[in-house]
Amino acid sequence: MNILITGGAGYIGSHIAEQLINKKNKIIILDNLETGFKKLINKKTIFIKGDITDKKKLVSILNQYKIETIFHMAAYLNVSEAEKYKLKYKRNNIQGTKNLLIACKNSSVRNFIFSSSCSVYGNVKGSVSESKKLNPQGYYAYTKYKGEEFVKKYSKKFNYNYGLLRYFNVAGASNSGKIGEIEKSHGHLIKNLAIQSLKKNPIISIYGNDYPTKDGTCVRDYMHVVDLANIHILAMNYLNKVKKSFIVNCGYGKGYSVKQIVNIFKKNKKNLSIKYEKRRPGDIAQVYSNTKKFQNLFKWKPKHNSINKIIKSAINWEKKISTVK
Ligand SMILES: NC(=O)c1ccc[n+]([C@@H]2O[C@H](COP(=O)([O-])OP(=O)(O)OC[C@H]3O[C@@H](n4cnc5c(N)ncnc54)[C@H](O)[C@@H]3O)[C@@H](O)[C@H]2O)c1
Repeated sequence: MNILITGGAGYIGSHIAEQLINKKNKIIILDNLETGFKKLINKKTIFIKGDITDKKKLVSILNQYKIETIFHMAAYLNVSEAEKYKLKYKRNNIQGTKNLLIACKNSSVRNFIFSSSCSVYGNVKGSVSESKKLNPQGYYAYTKYKGEEFVKKYSKKFNYNYGLLRYFNVAGASNSGKIGEIEKSHGHLIKNLAIQSLKKNPIISIYGNDYPTKDGTCVRDYMHVVDLANIHILAMNYLNKVKKSFIVNCGYGKGYSVKQIVNIFKKNKKNLSIKYEKRRPGDIAQVYSNTKKFQNLFKWKPKHNSINKIIKSAINWEKKISTVK
């Protein structure tokens, strides 16, 4: 298989590449390295520094490498920043996705796997299934919603099947010790806690404690990045075999509040202090996955679905990158 991963120098993309390499595929990575890192790029892949806003480059990559499957990960993903800089997010996440889809015209691409987000659902009561009417609240969520729309819209016209993967929150790092989350700007709770866990006087901000949730803080469903990357392989195999488009939630089906996660950290880092701040624009109160459709589709069991394991893995990675120059 000839595979293109846009954003493959990023956190999740690098984990997908690591698992695909073991399956002897030819992998092309396109990344502008804005929030991606050269050291996350697997040496067995072909790396092209470039941007999804460069239409000509996209067409030439798809044709030159006869790409059959695309994992489209490249995007900006800071929820608060998206509220402030809508145009920046529109150009990258919406227009960039559209460029890539249009480049699929007359190409050998048959599978298009898109990194979407549970934020397309908006606030939910209880767990959320794929059939729920979409109600994106913030601008980042809106860009993912529009991305999904375009992926669906062009699929018949350009003759590819798609998988829309709606990730919940992603954390942890590969057991190989070679890759993990480096970028600090995304505002991810477990990454921030892992950074703090190495400090003498650790402090963590909690944005909003007046949400209509069990303890007033936001509730999320955290998935280990290795399991999430593995789902991408399943998704590709499914599209190759069944040749039918699908939409699926990628979460474990269990919601943890910010306070619960912080308290787990506190067990090992007793002097962790908490700073309560205003709600972050674009954040929703609660979202966690209904996993029924996923189970029916893939009949797969996660290997890393323990919150303690996820947190430990994030801390170990943080320790590692703090010692390596
Ligand atoms: N991390 C999460 O919890 C989470 C949750 C839901 C959805 N997602 C989605 O998963 C995808 C990957 O996220 P991640 O956590 O790995 O983030 P990341 O920032 O590590 O990866 C994104 C990569 O895309 C690259 N990129 C951005 N704009 C680009 C452009 N115009 N051209 C080429 N490359 C570009 C960046 O340099 C980076 O390497 C994103 O689409 C994100 O929206 C992530």
